[in-house]
Amino acid sequence: MLTRKIFGALADGQVHSGEALAEATGVTRSAVWKAISQLREMGLPIEAQTNRGYRLSTPCEPLDEKAIRSDFAKEISNRTQLGIVWEIGSTNAALLESPPPLPDEFAVLMAENQTGGRGRRGRAWQAALGGSLCLSIATSFEPLPRDLPALTLVAGACVREALLECGVRDISLKWPNDVVTLSPSMQLVKLGGILAELRAEASGPALVVVGIGLNLRLGEQTKKSIAESGTLAGDLESLGLDAGKRNRAAAAVIGRVITGLQRFAAQGFAPFIDHWRAADVLRDRPIRVLDGGSEREGVARGIDAQGALQIEDAAGRRSAILAGDVSVRT
Ligand code: BTN
Repeated sequence: MLTRKIFGALADGQVHSGEALAEATGVTRSAVWKAISQLREMGLPIEAQTNRGYRLSTPCEPLDEKAIRSDFAKEISNRTQLGIVWEIGSTNAALLESPPPLPDEFAVLMAENQTGGRGRRGRAWQAALGGSLCLSIATSFEPLPRDLPALTLVAGACVREALLECGVRDISLKWPNDVVTLSPSMQLVKLGGILAELRAEASGPALVVVGIGLNLRLGEQTKKSIAESGTLAGDLESLGLDAGKRNRAAAAVIGRVITGLQRFAAQGFAPFIDHWRAADVLRDRPIRVLDGGSEREGVARGIDAQGALQIEDAAGRRSAILAGDVSVRT
């Protein structure tokens, strides 16, 4: 695909003339120009320099299977199939439709661009081309782990650990599936999200797919378009991640999540609770929970042993929230 080739050529951050790009890809200059506009629409920050050509405002590392695999521990590599595609509807949807891996084996699918990225509760997931990670990890559980509803929380804790290992600071988790930070004005800024989906067969193992979307470096255009959907988004580069090293970040996230899934299958949610509680951005904050038509207000009091959110009402009564959209009341 032409856009993929031009993305690959521009990734080095050097100036490439339209003519050189046309020659390298075997198309006309007007086809190059069209592909450049498409790439810009996909969120790639391409500058045009008069009489010189095109360059990325910052170099970017295309996803690379070998580079990612070389960072995996051997035990992970042996059990994991890894696929990288340029463009797909949704990596989660694709893995949910694929034959399930055996229990304790893993299929990972990553995409540079998703045309139908899925978020939680039917929302769309938007990502910046070259500045994000969009990946899904599939495995089978047999038997189903106890605490299955906590799967999203387990994945969140593992993603956070991987990001800390990559030098990111000040990241927290917002129940149930957001990777966030607090802005100086104490607003919640979303850095990434998790979408865990399940395909259970009448008999036999259940296929689970854990989808992870992370904002490594968001241009103003993508931030604005995410803001239009009502979410304040930020990126991990501003919190210390080397966003030029996408493959390293991908390997760290995949490795941690796979190890976490193995542990979750064997031990349930218990080994992850402390990490989650320490990262819980909602704890002791006034919150509002919307679920379908219902609305509840109270103070968040952390999660219980199954990963449900505890809310305390004005009369001091506590109850568990299993699903819903939570916002902080200001
Ligand atoms: C959310 O915060 O609402 C969850 C976002 C999950 C996005 C990821 S990107 C890779 C995978 N494929 C999808 O279609 N969605 C998940």
